[in-house]
Amino acid sequence: MAEIKLDLRHQPKDRAYAQLHSHMLSVLTGIDNDIAGMATLASLLHHAFGFLWTGFYRVVSPGTLLVGPYQGTLGCLEIAFGRGVCGTAAAERRTVIVPDVARFPGHIACDARAKSEIVVPVLDRAGELVAVLDIDSARTGTFDKQDAEGLERIVRWFAGEGRS
Ligand code: SME
Repeated sequence: MAEIKLDLRHQPKDRAYAQLHSHMLSVLTGIDNDIAGMATLASLLHHAFGFLWTGFYRVVSPGTLLVGPYQGTLGCLEIAFGRGVCGTAAAERRTVIVPDVARFPGHIACDARAKSEIVVPVLDRAGELVAVLDIDSARTGTFDKQDAEGLERIVRWFAGEGRS
């Protein structure tokens, strides 16, 4: 079993995500289950970077996201496609970076401490949207293109990349 205590807060982002990715692949060796993958990834990301909320909203029926594995305070339960940051990322199947949630019309505030957010679509092997990965930070401007690239690469595990 790999060491799971990682602190990546003081690393350059490209190295941090590369480290987290290889760590995740090692922890998930032999596991072929999306929920286990989501729970593991949420925990690794949340604690390694010290985020405020880190987790998944899963597509449970057409146009509806339901909260999945996460770390943090109570998240809202259901989000319709097109609503908030998560619903926008799901409807448009693209990563959405919000540097300041106060400036995102329709942002759904689950925790008043959240200041910035990134939401990344999660696709399966067939290219179908199965979930979104949602991360909230207590500081404005936390997320940029490097976070998007790092996270988009990591969630390709759900499309089968690196699963063994
Ligand atoms: N802020 C999100 C809702 C989910 S919580 O942040 C956990 C949104 O606007 O979609």
